[in-house]
Amino acid sequence: MGNGDLRKGPDDSKVRTIVWDNPVLKLIDQRKLPFEETYYECKNSGEVAGAIKKMVVRGAPAIGVAAAYGIAMAALNFRGKTAVKFFAFIDEKISELSATRPTAVNLFWSINRMKKVIADNKGLDLDSLIDRLVLEAEKIEEEDLQVNRLIGENGLEVFENRRGKIKILTHCNAGALATSGYYGTALAVIRSLNRIGKISNVIVDETRPFLQGARLTAWELHREKIPYFVISDNMAGYFMSEGEVDAVAVGADRIAANGDTANKIGTLSLSILAKNYGIPFYVCAPLSTIDIDTGCGRAIPVEQRDGREVREVLGKPVIPEYMPVMNPAFDVTPAVNITAIITEKEVIYPPFDKNIKKIFDNKK
Ligand code: MRU
Repeated sequence: MGNGDLRKGPDDSKVRTIVWDNPVLKLIDQRKLPFEETYYECKNSGEVAGAIKKMVVRGAPAIGVAAAYGIAMAALNFRGKTAVKFFAFIDEKISELSATRPTAVNLFWSINRMKKVIADNKGLDLDSLIDRLVLEAEKIEEEDLQVNRLIGENGLEVFENRRGKIKILTHCNAGALATSGYYGTALAVIRSLNRIGKISNVIVDETRPFLQGARLTAWELHREKIPYFVISDNMAGYFMSEGEVDAVAVGADRIAANGDTANKIGTLSLSILAKNYGIPFYVCAPLSTIDIDTGCGRAIPVEQRDGREVREVLGKPVIPEYMPVMNPAFDVTPAVNITAIITEKEVIYPPFDKNIKKIFDNKK
């Protein structure tokens, strides 16, 4: 497909995660999938922040796009007269959006892009500045689609020499629902492989506690008739030991400068299993997920979520309230467990610290 209107997508049956219907942001409600396909409407930036926090929208790139629109909406909703009041108002909304989820760096990356528009255009009249903010949010969304399509194409490189069809295991949802739509990151690679007839099966980890794999990834694959089956997270080792997994492909929430990668809780254990069985382990992510200012995984903040997500499944208690639980939402996979990082620019191979640095040095 060419570079036309990517928002229309290669196939209209594909998912629209985020719909900007100026001045309203419509988000497919990911808490309700796969049983209900409804859109959650945000009319101001506070509602966008709430939607990110409550996981109406989730997945690192999607959170970034939603936050950019949140800032654009704050600007559109400003009712004051002076620039001083406008900047103070926007700062307050940015702080609210920044405090939603700490791990996915795309949130901060897109907030910084919006901040730069403000900093670069301080001399403009307010109406023109507001227009620029709306345009920047639209650009961030559009670029995300392009980037994901390229991740899908670049991902074919690592399977080039592989004969026959591939059985690929994925964790959480790194699909259209985790991005601005249609492609995803790990699922972009799976979609590309499927397009050329190389997918034998996708093994979908259910991904407790929020069940992004079972509820969201399976839903996406089902719609596109890509062969898959769902397993509970503790079954991954069994399938690997049986020779049923040729590769693991996951997304990322933040990649440190040395390649250590924070992703959905459970990714670390998968990487250890994959290493044990000699199975390649691929991280698929845009360059905006690489946090060049964070040296290694230890420095990545890990979000701790409400224990109710562990105590309950789909809102039904599975253990009583009095039982203590823990709910870290992410873990960090050390770079040594990663075979390659598939980005929109290129596939990055070890040594990750050197090769990541090279890319960012060239970007300057
Ligand atoms: O808590 P979530 O659902 O936002 O976590 C999402 C993930 O961990 C994804 O794998 C990651 O954001 C990459 S999405 C392209």
